[in-house]
Amino acid sequence: MKVVDGNTNVVMDILEKEFIMDQMQLELMRELFQNEIEKTNRNELNSLKNEGFSLQLSSLKERGVAVSLDFGGTDIRAYLIELNGEGSFRFIKKTRASLRSKDQGHDFVSDLANAEELFDFQAEILTELIKSYSLSNLPLGYVFSYPMQQLAIDKAILTRWAKEINTPGVEGQDVVSLLKQALKRNFLNEKIDPKVVLNDTVGTFMASVYLDADTVIGSVIGTGYNSAFIERDWLGTGESRIVNLECGNFDKIKGNRFDVLLDKQSSYPGQHKFEKMVSGYYLGELFRLALVELISVDQAHLQSKNSVLFQPYAIDTSELSIIIADQSKDLTLIKKWGSERLSIGFDSNKCRLIKRLAEVIARRSAYLIAMSYTAILNYLDLNCSGHQVIAINGSLYEKLPGYKEWLNEALFGFFKLDPNNVSLKYFKEGPALGAAVAACLAKGGNLGGN
Ligand code: BGC
Repeated sequence: MKVVDGNTNVVMDILEKEFIMDQMQLELMRELFQNEIEKTNRNELNSLKNEGFSLQLSSLKERGVAVSLDFGGTDIRAYLIELNGEGSFRFIKKTRASLRSKDQGHDFVSDLANAEELFDFQAEILTELIKSYSLSNLPLGYVFSYPMQQLAIDKAILTRWAKEINTPGVEGQDVVSLLKQALKRNFLNEKIDPKVVLNDTVGTFMASVYLDADTVIGSVIGTGYNSAFIERDWLGTGESRIVNLECGNFDKIKGNRFDVLLDKQSSYPGQHKFEKMVSGYYLGELFRLALVELISVDQAHLQSKNSVLFQPYAIDTSELSIIIADQSKDLTLIKKWGSERLSIGFDSNKCRLIKRLAEVIARRSAYLIAMSYTAILNYLDLNCSGHQVIAINGSLYEKLPGYKEWLNEALFGFFKLDPNNVSLKYFKEGPALGAAVAACLAKGGNLGGN
């Protein structure tokens, strides 16, 4: 089916105005974000968290073999890692499995699943990981990336789920204890010893410190968004603490009407509003909501209500990458995407508008995240002096074309940070490496080995 142009250009101009953010707006948001961090220190009501995590930092000397289990989305990953000190490490083995699989007929993250199934599945992945090794008492670092209340380094209560996970029976529970019970049920309790539970941002931070002592922020820009930072004199105690801000929950920015609609239709309205504007789980859906409006001026193709255009979350953020990556003169990839995914034959002009829409949504995400980094850096050190490393993990940063450039544009252009002082470093498996370092430290630091 062919779609004619109509006044789509005008609609796109309007949409762009709703998503675009200029320097002045970003600066105001930066101030709001920074105020919010400061409020956490004064114990005033706020949407962030300042739960200092008292984790020993790497001395760069950790050695030994440890296990990491990374649960932060619908994929679970397990790693057997050898640490050789001075930032050197080796992944001995990795296993991964999806908590939601149509092929295998399971879904452990829906409201029909239960906690026992969810944690048994994690134990099965660990069984697979170590099955050909005769190892015992391996320290495990558990990366658990949902809002939690950390009571000890190996005890954390899930406050509430995020990223549209809904498994009942886990909220309000200590997730390490649930994991230990599952290890026992699966005869792994003598082989694997959970030593530490940590958020993925804290893991990324720990991984970066293992290699570079100048690290100040650990951040994950993937399915969800969050950052943690090091506070040298935490709440005036003179102690260094890693603070996990849970900043996806920041709620002092008014979103546009698409943000409001998405929040309203999500599993937890009113929660994690910032994350819903910036992270991988939601960008595809924001794009879908706006796209319906962009192309609905041409009523013809809207007859089929079964189109993915009308199915919530049917468009994945990875599709934005395909659209943004299309550099061809005729935007052939976008045309192909339109006909295969939406059964719509877009002309080149419409493809250009679709690309503009995808870019404006992705760019806003990068700008907002840069805004949060700047607020954290300002909060930590008003002069931003000394070398500061922001360690980043996550698929948006890694895979979305243009994302790094937009982040840099905002940090070093709008916010005028000094590129000689502030550097961004990507850590592909940062959370897993950081968890292994933390588990090793919790067991004494040097577990032998080379
Ligand atoms: C979670 C955070 C996590 C972030 C990135 C958010 O949904 O609440 O704990 O760090 O996603 O994975």
